Amino acid sequence: MKSDSLAIKQRYDRIAPYFDGFQAIMEGFFYRRWRKKLWTKVNGIHILEIGVGTGKNFDFYPVDAQITAIDFSPAMLKQAEHKKIRKAVTVTLNLMDVQSLCYADNTFDVVIASFVFCSVASPQKGLKELYRVCRPGGQILLLEQVVSSKPLFAKVMNIINPVMRVVMGANINRNTIKIIKSCGFSFVRIDADSSDIFKLIEAGK
Ligand SMILES: C[S@@+](CC[C@H](N)C(=O)[O-])C[C@H]1O[C@@H](n2cnc3c(N)ncnc32)[C@H](O)[C@@H]1O
Repeated sequence: MKSDSLAIKQRYDRIAPYFDGFQAIMEGFFYRRWRKKLWTKVNGIHILEIGVGTGKNFDFYPVDAQITAIDFSPAMLKQAEHKKIRKAVTVTLNLMDVQSLCYADNTFDVVIASFVFCSVASPQKGLKELYRVCRPGGQILLLEQVVSSKPLFAKVMNIINPVMRVVMGANINRNTIKIIKSCGFSFVRIDADSSDIFKLIEAGK
């Protein structure tokens, strides 16, 4: 594993036991509502969740779906394993790097991720893997925190980014929409309810 990916993985390994606690306020006031909206857009049975983390999306998994979820941090995956048992969720959890997925081309109806591509060392590489494993006509659904379109706010995000990267493992200053648009998807749509920095994105293959 390349050293930048290794450093990110180690950060998530370190914060995994505290991750849900760190995010509890934002989760309650904000993220949960967006997760619900993200998962109501799912249209398909074979689903791959990328960067499952501690399993915060488990509550929104469609009951009749066949879901596989991956993460490259063993400690985050361990939290997800505990939550899977506690909540009796049916999901196959695999330790894997999104930049090099071990699935055949065109495998999944839906590939979905929340708040992941701000952390992935090479988001382009990861997004191209999402494209590869999604079947033609399938859906890529993403919830992402991106850099603000307001120059002053973007400047502040750039300044505090190094701290956020160390504390939360995430880059808050990425232009992820631009990156997604460069990865060959047949369309990229931003949900109209998206805010300046939180985007619900649907892309197609
Ligand atoms: C900010 S957390 C979000 C977790 C979860 N999706 C959520 O909504 O709470 C980012 C997650 O992406 C994972 N991640 C980062 N880079 C990855 C990579 N290259 N391959 C797989 N997982 C990765 C991290 O380990 C972490 O669990």
